Amino acid sequence: MPGYRGAVRQLTTDRLLLRPWTDDDVDFALDLHSRWEVQRFLGAEPRVVTDRAEAADRVARYRSLDDHPVHGVWLITDRDGGRRHGSLLLKDIPLSGPSLPLLPSGETEIGWHLHPDSWGHGYASEAAAAVLAHALGGGLPRVVAVTYPDNHASQRVAMRIGMEHRGTTERFYNARSELFVAEASVSGSGAPRAGSGA
Ligand SMILES: CC(C)(COP(=O)(O)OP(=O)(O)OC[C@H]1O[C@@H](n2cnc3c(N)ncnc32)[C@H](O)[C@@H]1OP(=O)(O)O)[C@@H](O)C(=O)NCCC(=O)NCCS
Repeated sequence: MPGYRGAVRQLTTDRLLLRPWTDDDVDFALDLHSRWEVQRFLGAEPRVVTDRAEAADRVARYRSLDDHPVHGVWLITDRDGGRRHGSLLLKDIPLSGPSLPLLPSGETEIGWHLHPDSWGHGYASEAAAAVLAHALGGGLPRVVAVTYPDNHASQRVAMRIGMEHRGTTERFYNARSELFVAEASVSGSGAPRAGSGA
C-alpha cells in the first residue's frame, strides 16, 4: 500500500509488550546490532553496526516503515515496559536481483532479532506468535520467514509458531535460505493453516 502513513499498533502477550521503537531506544539498537552473534545470519553480507549514528538511522527506518497498515517493526520489552529484549518485524521481503536496492516482492516477511541476554526464554516465539496473529488477522493471506540454512534457532522459532517448512529458496535477498510459510485459514480466522504447496 504505497503512501500509507500509519502507526505501529502496540501488542501484548502474557510476558511481553511490543511497541514502536523510539529515539530512546537507539543505545539498545546499537547494543543489539553491534553483536556478531546477532548479525551473523542477517542479510546476504552480514556485518555489525559499529557506531551510534548508524544505530540511530536504523531506528529511524524502523519508525518510518509505512508500506502497509499491518506491517511494522516492534521493540519487544517486558510486559511492564521495563527490560528491552529485541525486535520483531513484518515487512515486504525483497526479491533477489542483479541491482541494488533489491526490488520489493509484494510478499510479507516476519523476522526476529533478540539480544543474547534474552535468548532461551521463549520470548522470540511468544512475540512472533503475536505478530503472526496480528498479520493474518489483519488480512494478510500469507507470511513468509527465511533463515540461513545453519540458523537452527530461528528455524525452531518459525516451527514453534506454526509456520511450515517449504524447503530451500533463492527467491529473496540474493541468498539461499530455508523458507517457512504461514497462510491464513480459509475461514479467515487468522490462524496459520498447514498444508498446500509452496
Ligand atoms: C533466532 C532467535 C530469536 C531465537 O531465540 P530463542 O531464544 O532461541 O527462541 P525462543 O524465544 O523460541 O526460545 C526458545 C528457547 O527458550 C527455551 N525456553 C525457556 N523458557 C521457555 C518458555 N517459557 N517458552 C518457550 N521456550 C522457553 C526453549 O527451551 C528454547 O531453548 P532451546 O532452543 O535451547 O531448546 C535468537 O537466536 C536470535 O535473536 N538470533 C540472532 C538474530 C537472528 O538470527 N534472527 C533470525 C534471522 S532469520
